[in-house]
Amino acid sequence: MTTIRDVAAKAGVSTATVSRIINNKGQATPETIARVHAIIKELGYKPNVVARSLISRKSNTIALLVPTISNPFFPELARGAEDVANSFGLNIFLCNTDDEREKVNNYLVSLRERYVDGIIINSLNLTNEDLEELHSNGIPTVTLDRTFPTHEFSSITVKHRIGAQLATKHLIDIGCKRIGLIRGPEDDFTAVQRMWGYRDYVKNFDWFDQSWIALGDFSVKSGYLCMKELFQRHPDIDGVFASNDLMAIGLLKAAHEWGRKVPDELAIIGFDGIDMSQYTNPPISTIKQPSYEMGKMAMEELIRLIRDPESNSNKMELDVELILRESSMR
Ligand code: RIB
Repeated sequence: MTTIRDVAAKAGVSTATVSRIINNKGQATPETIARVHAIIKELGYKPNVVARSLISRKSNTIALLVPTISNPFFPELARGAEDVANSFGLNIFLCNTDDEREKVNNYLVSLRERYVDGIIINSLNLTNEDLEELHSNGIPTVTLDRTFPTHEFSSITVKHRIGAQLATKHLIDIGCKRIGLIRGPEDDFTAVQRMWGYRDYVKNFDWFDQSWIALGDFSVKSGYLCMKELFQRHPDIDGVFASNDLMAIGLLKAAHEWGRKVPDELAIIGFDGIDMSQYTNPPISTIKQPSYEMGKMAMEELIRLIRDPESNSNKMELDVELILRESSMR
């Protein structure tokens, strides 16, 4: 599908310029306007016709709150949302909350004052009251990825527990006899769901107890430290499911330091499917989240709510995919 970014790149202008030309706004030169229209025709780009019918626009801006900018998973989400926003002539404010309650709250207060057209929030440090207040202030909101199922507003996440079951079953299927988990943060909905998915497949083994689970924080360093902890607790470990790819990347260093051959002596699988996971040595098997699609669908849902604020909310839970690479190929 040709996107507004393809048109902008070929024309040598910004996506905002392309959007203004499509919507007959802004100050582009006649030559630029002609060139952009010619490229739109050449590439067969189809501007979203709904864009022009968007009503109740306040600032042509959408805010996207993410829990960190140091994990490649979130920029991949943001890219999907941004492409859709730009095709509707909307800009994005990207806000990094570090998943801290105070920063989430500060951003929500600031964004209410800036009359953003809508907000997409990827954070657990959010309350039902936050969402109710945004709604009563006429700011449509969609939660994404790190969300909690109890709120009534639109949300998009993936089948985290099923993904963890796929990962753990794969390690069992290739012959692993002692499988550990490096889990995500205590209070993280996605981490808890993945921990349950792992337990679904190991809870009945006589060797299993809580000591086979190490508590990480989704960072590379925590993957390294947690793997060392598991090696110390259980030298006979021969398979590990890391609840995200960054921790899977980190544990490779620990496996090397402990002289464990991957995958023959330690099979590894991660979660997310970030681009980097295919470039490690060995490349890491993972459970791929449709991150670009999630961002795209979140923005499309938000546009729908902007056009019809009182319409029903949608809760979407997308499938994940098992991606097999050398780190678990025996
Ligand atoms: O890698 C970071 C994790 O936090 C991802 O798995 C994503 O689901 C988010 O919850």
